[in-house]
Amino acid sequence: MYYPDDVVEEVRSRSDIVDIISGYVKLQKKGSSYFGLCPFHHEKSPSFSVSPNKQMYYCFGCGAGGNVITFLMEYENYTFPEALKVLADRAGVELPKQEMSKEAKAQADLRTTLLEINKLAANYFHYQLKQPHGRIGYEYLSRRGLSDDTIRHFGLGFANKTSDDLYRYLKSKGYQDGILKESGLFSISERGSWDKFWNRVMFPIMDTNNRVIGFGGRVMGEGEPKYLNSPETKLFDKSRNLYGLNYARTTREKYFLICEGYMDVIAMHQAGFTNAVASLGTAFTTQHASLMKRYTSQVILTYDSDDAGVKAALRAIPILKEVGISCKVLNMKPYKDPDEFIKNLGADAFRERIREAKNSFLFEIEILKRGYDLEDPEQKTNFYTAVARKLLEFPDALERDNYIQAVSREQFINYQDLKQLVSRTAARLGPAWTPAGQQSGYGGTSSAQQRGTGPGGGESGPGYAREGAAPDGAVRRGGGRQEKADGAKQSQRLLLTWLIEEPRLFDKIRGIITPEDFREGLYHEVAQMVFDGYASGNLSPAGILNHFINDEEQYKEVAALFNASLKESLGSEEQKKAFSETVIKVRKNSLDEASRTAADIGQLQEIIKAQSALKTLHISLD
Ligand code: UTP
Ligand code: MN
Repeated sequence: MYYPDDVVEEVRSRSDIVDIISGYVKLQKKGSSYFGLCPFHHEKSPSFSVSPNKQMYYCFGCGAGGNVITFLMEYENYTFPEALKVLADRAGVELPKQEMSKEAKAQADLRTTLLEINKLAANYFHYQLKQPHGRIGYEYLSRRGLSDDTIRHFGLGFANKTSDDLYRYLKSKGYQDGILKESGLFSISERGSWDKFWNRVMFPIMDTNNRVIGFGGRVMGEGEPKYLNSPETKLFDKSRNLYGLNYARTTREKYFLICEGYMDVIAMHQAGFTNAVASLGTAFTTQHASLMKRYTSQVILTYDSDDAGVKAALRAIPILKEVGISCKVLNMKPYKDPDEFIKNLGADAFRERIREAKNSFLFEIEILKRGYDLEDPEQKTNFYTAVARKLLEFPDALERDNYIQAVSREQFINYQDLKQLVSRTAARLGPAWTPAGQQSGYGGTSSAQQRGTGPGGGESGPGYAREGAAPDGAVRRGGGRQEKADGAKQSQRLLLTWLIEEPRLFDKIRGIITPEDFREGLYHEVAQMVFDGYASGNLSPAGILNHFINDEEQYKEVAALFNASLKESLGSEEQKKAFSETVIKVRKNSLDEASRTAADIGQLQEIIKAQSALKTLHISLD
């Protein structure tokens, strides 16, 4: 989908970012910006800033940043056109009929049509539930303890025994076989067309915007498979959606509950645990974890208490840890799953189990223990060694020690002995050994030590440390060309940041610096827009940012550039000197490069003249 730049810019400029973000995040004014808790990562003190001047947001904690459009894309999981549409409606801007490439239009139409079909199907199934032949489905759900409210809330339904009634219904609405096939709801071949779902209670699966993207269906009585799920379609990507997330995302709880199935999610929500979600017909993936990370950084696993459930938990724990979600494991015994537990012991008992949920590491140790016969001294020793080895997963000494304490308490192992065993095990494994999937904490140089945190060659003066933005490629190498290149890049970035922050500086560099002097491809592009913006009296960082919306890497870099807040404005003598030096560096680098590619003698002479003029240049900020 494509909208002309000026339309996008109009929508953006008529949507005040503070206004919009206030609807999602509690903001407080501090100086010229607003601050709040970042909605994109979990934090206790606010490092999420919204600048009304720049019409941008930026998180100094996690680096998330952008303009009002990208905020909605990130927060609401909208596509660019969806976000634009919401803002346009809100601001009363009429979007032109889409000028799309044929292909893009076909894709967008396809998605829209598939959503329509799913919605019609969901309504159809839901309607059947209250019809005479749907009675068996309704009774099944009632017998399992679901109220009418719950059935409505989750849009549950019933697929008849008739093998093609949904197909005929949708045909009657005018849909063609091609698109019906793509919906994943039908088997269509020369031999005939059938509904894939029949004789099942139906669970519509919704995305975070409450749109039906697929279905799960549970067979009535015995039958294989017990649960049938929609295949992956243009809409439905199993590893990127979680059942119940559309409701759980607005929970007030700090944590989410993860369970195995539809009925568990629904039973928990009905009992008041509206923070429950499930991965469906598929194991928990990294994509699921990153999706959850947008909403929470704590999870309690409430998988089934059988072997399969334990296995699923052991698999999910490292995946969750990897994205920075800490987790605990709930003890379901003596019941099989949350649905059964709540039905038998009630919500209060379940809440109690949530409180008692076990730290995931201690859970892993508990499971590990099952593999050893502790009556046998040799096996017992092996168990302790395995525990010690596992404790080495914690690269941080203090954290490791906390766990040594906890394990010694839980497993009745003498603390000092365990601590010693851990040290000996580390020594035996040698300095080259690194805990799986972690940064080395034992011997060797950590990469953090090797990485210079400042800019390339000490380019900026004191007080100009940039906050938040990652130092790009600022690895200190053996010196030489790379360092020089990093230094040149750093100067250009610094200068751009200054110009955006304090437009009065444009007057100071007039006649000295042009956009051509920004030699770094991306910075050159940005500089051109910044200079143009300044010249037209309409410098808009958020507007410029829009040009990079299709390239995530560039987008992030530009957002960081526009938000690299300088600790102090240009006040002190030292800082003024640094500014002057940076301007000279940018210009010098530009001339040096130009001299290497000069086309003829005349041009080279011009460059040499400019180079020597630079030697006596002084920029005064006063
Ligand atoms: P269970 O077999 O534990 O189902 O599968 P359940 O939720 O307890 O089912 P009820 O209580 O008998 O109705 C857990 C989840 O695994 C997926 C479903 O998401 C199910 O909810 N599953 C299971 C399938 O996708 N296909 C299957 O054949 C079975
Ligand atoms: Mn069950």
